[in-house]
Amino acid sequence: MVSMQTTYIMIKPDGVQRGLVGEIITRFENKGLRLVGLRQLIPSNKIAEAHYAVHKDRPFYSGLIDFITSGPVVAMAWTGVEAIKVARNIIGPTNGREAAPGTIRGDFAMDIGHNIIHGSDGEETAKFELDLWFPDGVAEWQRDAESHIYE
Ligand code: RTP
Ligand code: MG
Repeated sequence: MVSMQTTYIMIKPDGVQRGLVGEIITRFENKGLRLVGLRQLIPSNKIAEAHYAVHKDRPFYSGLIDFITSGPVVAMAWTGVEAIKVARNIIGPTNGREAAPGTIRGDFAMDIGHNIIHGSDGEETAKFELDLWFPDGVAEWQRDAESHIYE
C-alpha cells in the first residue's frame, strides 16, 4: 500500500549563503516530488527552539540554534508517495563527509553542523514541522504530470 506524504524540507543558512537554493529545488523536482509550500525567512529563536526541541539536552543544541537563526532559510513542503523517506535519501546522512556522492550532503557538505539541509524524519515529525513553519497550510494542487510519474 503506497502512502502519499508531505514532508518538511529546509535549506539551512549555509545552503542559502552558498547559492544552492536552485540546485536543491531542482533535485527534488527532478525526482518527481511536488512542491506545495515555499517561503524564505530568518528564523526567530522561538521557531528554531520549537523545531529543534527534541535536541534541547544535546551538547550541540545552543550552537545549532545560533546557526539556524544566523541568516535566511528556505522552508519547503514537498509531496509524493513515501516523500519522507524519498527526501531523506536525496539529502543523505547527517555527516557530509560520510554521505555518499549523489546525495545533497554528499555533494555539498563537509561537516555535521553545516550540512545544508533538513528533512523530516517521520510522519509525526513532518506534521509537527509543517504546522510550525506553514501555520497557514500549504497549497492543495494537482499536477498534470502525475500519471507520468506514478503507475
Ligand atoms: P536534520 O534534522 O537537520 O534533517 O538532520 P538529521 O536528521 O540528519 O540529524 P539530527 O540527528 O536530527 O540532528 C539535527 C541537526 O543537528 C546538527 N547536529 N550536530 N555536532 C553534532 O554532533 C551534531 N549532531 C547533529 C546537525 O546540523 C543535524 O542536521
Ligand atoms: Mg533530524
